[in-house]
Amino acid sequence: MVYTSARDLDFQVSDLSPLPRPHRVLLTTPTHFDVEYVINPHMSENVGTVMKDVAFQQWKALRATYTALDVSPSVLNGKSGLPDMVFCANQTLPFYQPDADRRGVVLSRMHADERSDEVPYYADFFEDQGYEVERLPDDIDASFEGMGDAIWHPSRYLLWGGYGFRTSPDAYQAISDLLNVRVVLLELTDADYYHLDTCFCPLDEDHVLIADDALNDEGRALIETCFDTVIEAPDNEARHQFACNAHCPDGKHVLIQEGCEGTTERLRAEGFVPVELDTSEFLKAGGSVFCMKQMMW
Ligand code: ARG
Repeated sequence: MVYTSARDLDFQVSDLSPLPRPHRVLLTTPTHFDVEYVINPHMSENVGTVMKDVAFQQWKALRATYTALDVSPSVLNGKSGLPDMVFCANQTLPFYQPDADRRGVVLSRMHADERSDEVPYYADFFEDQGYEVERLPDDIDASFEGMGDAIWHPSRYLLWGGYGFRTSPDAYQAISDLLNVRVVLLELTDADYYHLDTCFCPLDEDHVLIADDALNDEGRALIETCFDTVIEAPDNEARHQFACNAHCPDGKHVLIQEGCEGTTERLRAEGFVPVELDTSEFLKAGGSVFCMKQMMW
């Protein structure tokens, strides 16, 4: 079932099957990371400006932060010629189906040709790790960018699906059928917020961090119906510092780009503990913490 309007929501989030927190994380080395082409507005001024050594230090700090939080990272090596491969949230959607005790990944169909060749490396990685690897049906003409646009509701078997720039709405009907899951769709219309993970960051079952300017009234109503508390990031922090591309792996700590002062203050007021990281080299490509990791069960 796919939902596009708050009026149609025929369930309470708290009645849905419990979903355990994923306890594993995948990171991809930034050895070949660069801005070599422009596929989102954030990249346009930054072609050729990535400082490789700085990027590597920033990535190592992210790896150390997950390790310190007891989520020990698996590491995949980035490949030459695939400068965006470091953004490992985009090539797959990992899933755990609580009712069937089944875990796997749905492979993405990248919108940009420049990124298509990244997907087979992730398919191989997950296959080697014993995950079921699912594909969208051949007969639908839909692009899908994994957890860039499809984000699990923490602790409940419910999927949020962004569409408008990278992922086609049709992909979500197919995913709903494949995984027997309800999907709530959010339309994206502002190109700075080209993936759902740039403007929507569920923290726990009840709290979500959002960039309000990225969402329309219907999206806002869907979010307010499903979460008790909506925390808004100031637009300048969300748009330019990727405040909503944060990640809360444990319901408490929020890994977030450093310097998002308005956002971190609001997070603290709700009892969260911000962990600030510098991802400035990755912001040049239009990504920060959330898209640099993939959580899996
Ligand atoms: N340059 C990459 C792209 O535009 C950045 C992806 C960042 N990932 C994300 N989930 N926002 O595809």
